[in-house]
Amino acid sequence: MPDVIGTVISTGSSPSTSKFSFVINAKRIRKGQFVCCDSPEGRTVARIADIIKTNHYFERAESVQEFERSGKSLAELFPAARWEYLVADAVALGVCSNGQLLRSAYPPSPGTKVRLVDSKTLADFFGLDLAKGLHLGKIEHHDVDVKLSLTRLLHKHLAILGISGSGKSYCVADLIEELLDRPPEHGQLAIIVIDTHGEYIGFAEDPAYRQKADVVLGRNFRIGVPGLSASMIAEFIPALTAVQRRELNKLLAKLNEEKRGKVFDLRDVLTKLESDEIIKKSDTRGILYTYLYDLANTRLFGGYDDPALEKLAAPQHLTIVDISDITNLREKQIIVAYLARKLFEARRAKAIPPFVLIIEEAHNFAPEGVHREGAISKRIIERLAREGRKFHTCLCLVSQRPIQLSTTALSQCNTHIIMRVTNPYDLDHIGRSSEGLTADVLKTISSLRTGDALIVGEAVNVPLFMRVRKRRSMASERGIPLEAACLEFASDMTKRSADAAAFV
Ligand SMILES: Nc1ncnc2c1ncn2[C@@H]1O[C@H](COP(=O)(O)OP(=O)(O)O)[C@@H](O)[C@H]1O
Ligand SMILES: [Mg+2]
Repeated sequence: MPDVIGTVISTGSSPSTSKFSFVINAKRIRKGQFVCCDSPEGRTVARIADIIKTNHYFERAESVQEFERSGKSLAELFPAARWEYLVADAVALGVCSNGQLLRSAYPPSPGTKVRLVDSKTLADFFGLDLAKGLHLGKIEHHDVDVKLSLTRLLHKHLAILGISGSGKSYCVADLIEELLDRPPEHGQLAIIVIDTHGEYIGFAEDPAYRQKADVVLGRNFRIGVPGLSASMIAEFIPALTAVQRRELNKLLAKLNEEKRGKVFDLRDVLTKLESDEIIKKSDTRGILYTYLYDLANTRLFGGYDDPALEKLAAPQHLTIVDISDITNLREKQIIVAYLARKLFEARRAKAIPPFVLIIEEAHNFAPEGVHREGAISKRIIERLAREGRKFHTCLCLVSQRPIQLSTTALSQCNTHIIMRVTNPYDLDHIGRSSEGLTADVLKTISSLRTGDALIVGEAVNVPLFMRVRKRRSMASERGIPLEAACLEFASDMTKRSADAAAFV
């Protein structure tokens, strides 16, 4: 049993069922630590929300002022130091009673001894899976690894939210490591990451992971036209009317019949459209032609899918779809929409293993309040969010603008890992969309350091702050940091002027 660190005191408003204060009589007690004390229901577990230092000698401003004026110090005249004491305000999180977690419904008594919570109790309290869980970090101030149950974390989707630079991608890299390093007997997933900044390519270069990771470059990504249905194409062209879609459907059927298993691409569809006798006579032709011509210009379409499905999703394998080389948002959305739908359908048919699809900058792919034309991939992401769990297709949405992210998709993410968020609108949105967040916890979110995270939802019994662990894999990014870019430019300039001088 850990040592006593304090005693519950009686204040005007506590101890209550939700909070208690205790006078601290031990060293190195910090805000954020977990403490416990016995209550009539069992053992109350609480988090230190604040620590206050007081001293009766310094309570009255006028007497302090008077003494200081007289040239003497209070501390010299009286044993003031002996009367300094610390009071911790603790927020009750729940009660452990015979291995069960209960809501606190009865306060502890004043005078009750307070102790730090031991590691085992803490792990049980938060519902960590120390044996098989995914190791993402440590509980702050306590030497307890945060190991989250795979099912609880991913089965009902995960959202990682925080401002740019708060450590989201770093945390995702930890998650990927854990998934790739999982022994077969613990269950292995396929991992696909939509990498908008080329941040994960390090996995394909790292000797420890490169066997298990592949990079697909956005410019090499191809959507195979022969396998495309009119409804799939309609998803890329949200403005397509029912009539136009019907005509397109007929056209594709004819083309498939003619080509009989041979490859063809959008150019062939266009040629067929030009020559088709029936469509030629209708107004539909011109519009369809414009739409399809526009799609063909994206160069995302080809004779067959690249990468092929079995390369895209294999157990214990990471596919990094690096779309950092594509600037056009619509093209990026087309890639994500196609990929998400293809994976979802393949999984429904049990052709691929359970997978997790990680989407960076998710607010760009499933934006809230954006018209369908500007949100090609939104529908399928929302569908995956709603129906995915039945087929063990997990989403991990990463975003720095939660308020711009589809509420439908976000509300289906039953676990949120929240990193630093400073924008008041985003904070407010998070407060409303994450269950069980108290005001004091919400307040802390804006002051989190890089690499600090709050886990809320399905994966944990009670919201939990963690320090994200150091990554094992190699970090490698497309592009070079600003400083290096400045130096590179300067050295280029020097070289150029040297060349010019030599020429003269
Ligand atoms: N847990 C951590 N430990 C150490 N460094 C971290 C941690 N989290 C983030 N960083 C560093 O902080 C910077 C920003 O992190 P990043 O994950 O890219 O942020 P985000 O994806 O939220 O924009 C990176 O340089 C990263 O290496
Ligand atoms: Mg990032």
